[in-house]
Amino acid sequence: MEIKRGKTTIKTIVADITTLKVDAIVNAANSSLMGGGGVDGAIHRAGGPTILEECKKIVTKIGRLPTGEAVITTAGNMPSKYVIHTVGPVWHGGNRREPELLKNCYINSLKLAKEKGIKTIAFPSISTGVYGYPVEKAAKVAVKAVIDFVEENPDYFDEIIFCGYDPYTEKHYASELSNYKK
Ligand code: APR
Repeated sequence: MEIKRGKTTIKTIVADITTLKVDAIVNAANSSLMGGGGVDGAIHRAGGPTILEECKKIVTKIGRLPTGEAVITTAGNMPSKYVIHTVGPVWHGGNRREPELLKNCYINSLKLAKEKGIKTIAFPSISTGVYGYPVEKAAKVAVKAVIDFVEENPDYFDEIIFCGYDPYTEKHYASELSNYKK
């Protein structure tokens, strides 16, 4: 599924995000920035130890990364250039600011990307694995956040990718994105 807004192509794919040749991939990290399971584990394995070294320096400087915030490191051995690490909210039923915090993950990642001159970026399905956010609800928040950002910055990004690891996840983002087709 693919739509266009200004100069930006926004699309969904099924892939292992660590294999993508884009300027930046986004990591669904945790506040410690010390790695973990899921996509976080896959990124640290594929990228190698330099990513963790950079994360440690960041934590020394700023402490734990609050939910919804984003920081950037290089991508080590992966084909992308950078990893933007953000921390999604843990799903507690929806009344603990989960949608707002998830939206912040996308907005703060895109803001940081723009500051760094990143033109192509891929997001995993933040919070919908270990953190338990229902994927259909997360897809709504994610797609709206990205479209709103692009509509406010129509001449900046070349490509923004929603990367599902499995077809079920991708289908939800694709169906949400199709609502924005003009
Ligand atoms: N490429 C793309 N997507 C992936 C990959 C991969 N290589 N591996 C896993 N995913 C998908 C999962 O299938 C899920 O759809 O990423 C999505 C997010 O799942 P998690 O990685 O579990 O992330 P999240 O729910 O945000 O939980 C974050 O998990 O291990 C940790 O350190 C991380 O504590 C943090 C928590």
